[in-house]
Amino acid sequence: MPSIVIVGAQWGDEGKGKITDLLAERSDAVIRFQGGNNAGHTIVRDGQVWKLHLMPSGILYPGKTCVIGNGVVIDPKVLTDELEELRRRGVDTGGLRISANAHVIMPYHLMLDTAGEARLGSLQIGTTRRGIGPCYADKAARLGIRVQDLLDEKILKKKIVAALEPKRLSLRPFAKDPKLDLQTMTEDYMTYGHRLEQHIADTTRLVWDLLEDGRQVIFEGAQGALLDIDHGTYPFVTSSNPIAAAACIGSGVGPKDIDEIWGITKAYATRVGAGPFPTEMEGEQGELLRERGGEFGTTTGRARRVGWLDLVALRYAAKLNSLTALAVTKLDVLSGLEELYVCTRYRGAEGAEFDVFPYHQTVLHHATGEYETVPGWEEDLGECRTEAELPQAARDYLAAISDFVGVPVVLVGVGPGREQVIWTEAAQHTIAANALAR
Ligand code: IMP
Repeated sequence: MPSIVIVGAQWGDEGKGKITDLLAERSDAVIRFQGGNNAGHTIVRDGQVWKLHLMPSGILYPGKTCVIGNGVVIDPKVLTDELEELRRRGVDTGGLRISANAHVIMPYHLMLDTAGEARLGSLQIGTTRRGIGPCYADKAARLGIRVQDLLDEKILKKKIVAALEPKRLSLRPFAKDPKLDLQTMTEDYMTYGHRLEQHIADTTRLVWDLLEDGRQVIFEGAQGALLDIDHGTYPFVTSSNPIAAAACIGSGVGPKDIDEIWGITKAYATRVGAGPFPTEMEGEQGELLRERGGEFGTTTGRARRVGWLDLVALRYAAKLNSLTALAVTKLDVLSGLEELYVCTRYRGAEGAEFDVFPYHQTVLHHATGEYETVPGWEEDLGECRTEAELPQAARDYLAAISDFVGVPVVLVGVGPGREQVIWTEAAQHTIAANALAR
């Protein structure tokens, strides 16, 4: 039952989609377990660009089992559009299975997300406004609509009425919006239900069977550890748990079913939306990395905030996830910088230095990075395919990361193409290596 969880080790957008895509080719199934269409994966394959939001990354391989697990929140409009687009471009989507227990994003969730942000004013989180938070809130309040409800008109209508009741006041500004009409909403969502019906399944049992049959399974995380609702930079976080433990909850397996946990990190750091970011770069250098790294959101198009690599936060993410391996993406973006800064400590408001990720919000909000400098390199890395082909300074940079975090680097990204990766020596000891040798 070889299984690998892939998680973001920073604030999301680390390149999980590309790594999942690489591993998915030799795997039997890809399972998404949390988040929703706040995520966005860009996959470049044979010169074609694919932007996926809800679909597990393995969908581009014919016949692969792709599961949207119970922990995901699904906007059925987005999902049906994505399915249609994939089919139009000739992709076989027959392997998609959607958990009947996954929660559904309703039109009022989108409205409440936008209204909630407006109400917060300068304190806003900078959400993707996709209704993710309000949908998870309804799940916790036991007022959620689930995928299975889309197949029963009577139940659906009843549940919508119950969900709307406590929101009457906050939805008053949208009272005239036709999307909130009970009949329209019920009909629209029944239509989505019919369109998705062939894919709806008991996905928990399906994942058990896959594991029992010794299939290779990839659990594909969305967002990143520092956006975790429990362990991230609360309240500037997403509303689910993007850490490895959630792979179990969001799909229905126990922790013992997980064999390896890969954390994906960029060679620098980015963050979208508001919230503390101790290593944020100001000015020209930030602009330069943003342009070179194409740091604009797949989902919202927003310019990402850019910073130096934060090893304190990365070590924290390694612990939260019990990482067994690190994949470092976008190393090529750092070429041409004379010196690189890596954050190994924080300095607090009173000048105290500390080397652990602060649990207290006030401390975190005032923390700034303390750096060590390491030499940069001039060479373009796009053609490198082995560690030996990397400049010494780039190898030293990778070694510094894995030494500090205490987790081996198994994969390095040197460009956007799927062939632009380096499998390191350490990768020989992973399941993925065996899978790739299959
Ligand atoms: P929400 O998930 O839309 O509620 O947004 C909450 C926070 O998580 C905001 O700061 C978003 O920018 C951030 N966020 C959500 N999804 C992603 C992602 O896939 N990548 C990066 N940031 C994300």
